[in-house]
Amino acid sequence: MQIITRLPELRRAIRSARKGYKSVGFVPTMGYLHHGHLALVEASRKQCYTTVLSIFVNPKQFGLNEDLGNHPRDFERDGRLCRDAAVAIVFAPDVWEVYPAEFETSVEPGELAQPLCGAFRPGHFRGVATVVCKLFNMVQPDVAFFGQKDFQQCAIVRRMAIDLNFPAQIVTVPTVREPDGLAMSSRNRYLGKQERPRALAISRGLFTADAEFRAGERDVAKLISSAMRHLKEVDRVQYLELVDADTLKPAASPLNRPGALCAAAYIGSTRLIDNVVLTP
Ligand code: PAF
Repeated sequence: MQIITRLPELRRAIRSARKGYKSVGFVPTMGYLHHGHLALVEASRKQCYTTVLSIFVNPKQFGLNEDLGNHPRDFERDGRLCRDAAVAIVFAPDVWEVYPAEFETSVEPGELAQPLCGAFRPGHFRGVATVVCKLFNMVQPDVAFFGQKDFQQCAIVRRMAIDLNFPAQIVTVPTVREPDGLAMSSRNRYLGKQERPRALAISRGLFTADAEFRAGERDVAKLISSAMRHLKEVDRVQYLELVDADTLKPAASPLNRPGALCAAAYIGSTRLIDNVVLTP
């Protein structure tokens, strides 16, 4: 496994990995890897000859009130996990490598970035789209893998890849969960012992609505209120919305197109997101 921090070296490594038209899969991360990330690596290894994983805590996707400095980091452990998962190249650039001092060009996503997390995290998806665009230009992947837990991010990246003519195929990999249902996230480590059980209310709410949907319920308000009955147990629900899975606009009732039931909630000061996709 190669660990690369500089762009010219990355380009050389990718060029040689590509020899013979071999495919490159890309897993962008902000480090502090968990089984969700490893599922992305696994999907890439199944589909592509070489897997590149980036570790870059992108300052441009953190708001002023969001603690960039506190973002969990453990490069040693990440390196071990990548080696065990047979990642070929770990790209871990410094901030100045990605954002030189004169940097001033951003990718501005459109309407897909307005609802859900976008409504509460101004500029977040501009930061995500910008860094993903830059990483795509650096790695030039054939396929890039993103976790479904970040449903809105997946939609925005898919749109960006089409709009900006990236040749990469964008693959969304299903959310990996703890045995009790909690969606894997690097933020779960912030949950105290007393908070952890309360966090389960999120997946429980989403699963309840999903079960009702599978049993034939198509009324959007009823599905939302079934989920909300459980979500009430968290400290604060930031949003719980059933949106059209493609446009992210509020889903029409009765639900006869794929919808995504998306939630963001606080347990103490930890903000968690999760979703289930309801496909008629
Ligand atoms: O999902 C993430 O970890 C980040 O948003 C990403 C895609 C690596 C961009 O910084």
